[in-house]
Amino acid sequence: MDVFVTWLRATPASEWINSSTWIWPLCESLHFMGLSLLVGITGFFDLRLMGFFKRVSIGAVRDLMPFALVGFAVNAITGLVFLTGLPEQYANNPVWWYKVGFLMLAGLNALVYETRLSAKVLALEPGADPPTAVRLVGLVSLVSWFAVLYCGRMLAFIGDAF
Ligand code: HEM
Repeated sequence: MDVFVTWLRATPASEWINSSTWIWPLCESLHFMGLSLLVGITGFFDLRLMGFFKRVSIGAVRDLMPFALVGFAVNAITGLVFLTGLPEQYANNPVWWYKVGFLMLAGLNALVYETRLSAKVLALEPGADPPTAVRLVGLVSLVSWFAVLYCGRMLAFIGDAF
């Protein structure tokens, strides 16, 4: 890991990110907009899976998902810019690794939903109570995205890398 971090920090991309006065604030702003899009839409979808807002059809909420994916892509790209800029600060911070863990949990949970539950859920009538497994997937998703958000915000405050 240390070898990789040292190599990444010496790349021209890392030098460029650190020498620029605008790239870091631009990426911070985009990261914030991306997470708002992602958490706003997935959060609504998760609450719907948990049985809230039953008058709204799940299919209609799911139609918003491409916008959530755009938010995720923006965050992945800008997050990689941060990592490339200061890899040693994040690699040595346990909160960063918690963030990665919760990102993986959220991804795995979405995979379980897509492969095992999505078809059944979309067939539910508006107003019907979602099965327990569906409510659980919604809860895990909500908690894990908020944990990603919390760990991201806490990067500067917890751990001794800063
Ligand atoms: C998908 C890959 C992602 C990567 C590689 C990534 C990486 C990072 C990094 C390295 C930082 C630190 C920036 C700094 O020091 O100022 C950061 C900040 C942050 N991230 Fe992410 N992130 C990702 C996705 C997300 C997602 C999905 C969320 C929310 C659900 C999120 C929420 C945050 C927050 C709230 C901050 C703090 C921003 C601030 O203090 O202004 N990140 N991210």
